[in-house]
Amino acid sequence: MPQGVVAGSIPLFAGHPSPDLLPIDGLQRIIRSAWDAPNVARFLNYGDEQGDRQLIEFLVERLNRAEGLGICGENLMIIGGSTWGVGMATQQLTAPGDAVLVDAPSYRDALHIFRDHRLEICAAPIDDEGIIIADLERCLRKLAADGVAPRFYYVVPNFQNPSGITMSRERRLAIIELSRQYDFVIVEDDVYSDLRFEGAAPPSFFDLARGENVLRLGTFSKTLAPGLRIGWLIASPDRIAGFVESGMLRMGGGANPFTAAVVADYCHSGVWEAHVQWLRGQYRRRRDIALKALEASMPSGVTWTQPRGGYFIWLRLPSSAPVDALEEQAQEQGVYFASGKGFYVNPADGAHHLRLSFSFVPLPDLRKGIEILGNLIARMAE
Ligand SMILES: Cc1ncc(COP(=O)(O)O)c(C=O)c1O
Repeated sequence: MPQGVVAGSIPLFAGHPSPDLLPIDGLQRIIRSAWDAPNVARFLNYGDEQGDRQLIEFLVERLNRAEGLGICGENLMIIGGSTWGVGMATQQLTAPGDAVLVDAPSYRDALHIFRDHRLEICAAPIDDEGIIIADLERCLRKLAADGVAPRFYYVVPNFQNPSGITMSRERRLAIIELSRQYDFVIVEDDVYSDLRFEGAAPPSFFDLARGENVLRLGTFSKTLAPGLRIGWLIASPDRIAGFVESGMLRMGGGANPFTAAVVADYCHSGVWEAHVQWLRGQYRRRRDIALKALEASMPSGVTWTQPRGGYFIWLRLPSSAPVDALEEQAQEQGVYFASGKGFYVNPADGAHHLRLSFSFVPLPDLRKGIEILGNLIARMAE
């Protein structure tokens, strides 16, 4: 069972790819040929601190082609997944007691990293276009009045975890203005943008700010396999150089050289692009099934988001259905979801929210799990 999944349950909490969405045969072929290649010893040794050159070259070319970013090899480094990037950025940019800005709700495990580093976390609420600028400004003014300058704003701009919401271009531009005015960095955790089902993507923060004071993270976890632990960081050349020269990378010699070489071969062969294309259809189907099941099963008073990509749907429960009670009753019936409370700096703010993931469970379980939740919520309202 993958991380945290109870055998025999319906794990609607799990933000993992379903096992049938992992390209096992294709990866096995590439791994075998990487293993048999004459230069395998090179990849079994310490690597280049900036990461696998072939993979850097592939990603730079792809990002320039798809988004016209105009970046070069000095703008990008390979990391051990987006989580590594959030940890590294936090380590380099903050000291204990510093303040950082986040959305409310925000990605639970990023909040965990910020707490590990003993940071003060300041959150402003989101609506269906992302963080509400007036609330963020209020937050910034209050911090400034206390003599505090936040070090960075952490954001999942596309198909946010947990809400599924994508931040509008206008909000992104307003935040870039504020980042210049109040001198904070933007950490853009862009793990879901390749899983867009419909509509056009707003430009990234990195693009809109022309790379100035933005760290943008990407990962192969959602479009290939999380167990490979490979992602990337895009930033200005001087920031990349700062990370590359860190003690951690000097000592360890770059991120996962063998897996990075395998991923590079997989990408250069053209198979990854085709796989991403196929995945979009698979996840769109799962999203549609989940939305249909919600429509059919949820009593009035429950509302939810309509994500246009990614893994997650965010539910708001009526006052008759506190999430703690629902969680207890759902688990008795084998249904596990992510309580809204984990996604807020102040857990009580999530007392009537929950996150459903449509990425992992078999399709009949997706329908059945949502139906069980709908019945429980309806019964609580009676
Ligand atoms: C917003 C966000 N960031 C990071 C991660 C983890 O990414 P990685 O596997 O690349 O560390 C996830 C996975 O759920 C996520 O939703």
